[in-house]
Amino acid sequence: MRIANVILAAGFGTRMKSELPKVMHPLLGRPMIDWAVRTATAISGQPPVVVVGHRRELVEAHLGSRARCVVQTELLGTGHAVQQAAPVVADAADVVIVTYADMPLLRAETLQTLVDAYLAAAEAGDRPALAMLTVTRDDPQGFGRIVRRATGEIQAIVEEADCTPAQRAIKELNPGVYCFDATWLRANLAAIPLSAKGEYYLTDMVGIAVRQGRRVVTQPAHFEDVNGINDRVQLAHATAVLRRRIVEQHMLAGVTVIDPASTYIEDTVAIEADATIWPGCHLMGATVIGRRATIGPFSQVVDSRIGDDCRVVYSVVEQARMDAHSEIGPFGHLRKGAHLGENVHIGNFGEVKNSYLGSGAKMGHFGYVGDAQIGANSNIGAGTVTCNFDGARKHQTVVGDDVFLGSDTLLVAPVTLGDGARTGAGAVVTRDVAPGALVYGVPARARPTPPDDTH
Ligand code: UD1
Ligand code: CA
Repeated sequence: MRIANVILAAGFGTRMKSELPKVMHPLLGRPMIDWAVRTATAISGQPPVVVVGHRRELVEAHLGSRARCVVQTELLGTGHAVQQAAPVVADAADVVIVTYADMPLLRAETLQTLVDAYLAAAEAGDRPALAMLTVTRDDPQGFGRIVRRATGEIQAIVEEADCTPAQRAIKELNPGVYCFDATWLRANLAAIPLSAKGEYYLTDMVGIAVRQGRRVVTQPAHFEDVNGINDRVQLAHATAVLRRRIVEQHMLAGVTVIDPASTYIEDTVAIEADATIWPGCHLMGATVIGRRATIGPFSQVVDSRIGDDCRVVYSVVEQARMDAHSEIGPFGHLRKGAHLGENVHIGNFGEVKNSYLGSGAKMGHFGYVGDAQIGANSNIGAGTVTCNFDGARKHQTVVGDDVFLGSDTLLVAPVTLGDGARTGAGAVVTRDVAPGALVYGVPARARPTPPDDTH
């Protein structure tokens, strides 16, 4: 069966009280609409048709080729929105699934139960005009009510504003997720009457089908899946649900998460088995965490690759890379372009930016390394700073292998220190240092013929 998706995203989202269109508000690192597009695409394998309206240029630019956008210039209701989409829906589609862009918790599995319910009825020889999800809830406020006959068949969806007092008490509700017979939808969309509110209600399709004697199938769903977002309270609630789902997927895939409730992992993050995530961690963006790595407590890792067996403790790692067995923290900061080779150790208050530290390099106590290459097994003494910025331009520092930088060394870039070079405590290195040489003082100069150079 060929499935097409229509996602409604034209609404104002007034209750968000935001300049940003509602569907562009992020949840776990992705704009709200991405979740709906992803669920739709998972079901149909095709880019959905998205009905855009309010601030459509932002939504269209964001979606690009992942969706076919159609514009609803006047927001005349959900039925009107689908009327705009219908001409663009692929002719070959057998069914059209309609969902909302503000329903990020709707899972592909849940949508599949709707498609299956439709198919089961169709295969039994009574092809439905549509199938729809329903939810049952003690507080029905804000939803269209499902009105059934005494015999149990659905008769209509009645919008809250149009309910009789008896209908108002109905607890079976319309979340707004439908699977339509494509041919029937096209043939009958124009029959939606104008409501008293001046809108065309998609929900009227149920009454139209019933009057034609066509079957309408209902499929119960959990409220959590279809809970839409109208304001920022609901946004936070949905974020919590998505966060929990993501953390649970990682745990089931072999990641130890010590405290799921305080762990924020975006959907874009990959974590290999046997990694351990301690409380208070934020793993974001295009981040990959290797096997047996330990992150946290209280660390933020953004767009970074953390290798196998690494440790990140009370630290921030952004657009950086740590190779296997490296560690940072507590209170370290890897910034854009920092790359630690294997077995690198960064201790308290170390900051590294746009630099490579060769394998086995050590930087145990507060220091700044920027725009530098540090060779293997070099030791960066406490308080070492690469003075990489002259007020106008950035300059490079190159430090060879097995270099020993004494505490409080200032490396005034551009400067190069050869393999095995050493600096005395407090050296201000303004000129290149030859391999094996020892420099000291301000500005640093070579030590004359050392009497005993074994140290
Ligand atoms: C709709 C349903 C109601 C259901 C509820 C669930 C109708 C008439 N009513 O009501 O039965 O219980 O959803 O949340 O369908 N949209 C457009 N263009 C429009 C109007 C809406 O794209 O002209 C989009 C909105 O952006 C939103 C969705 O459709 O994503 C639902 O619109 P909304 O105004 O929230 O519908 P409700 O009145 O809540
Ligand atoms: Ca709504």
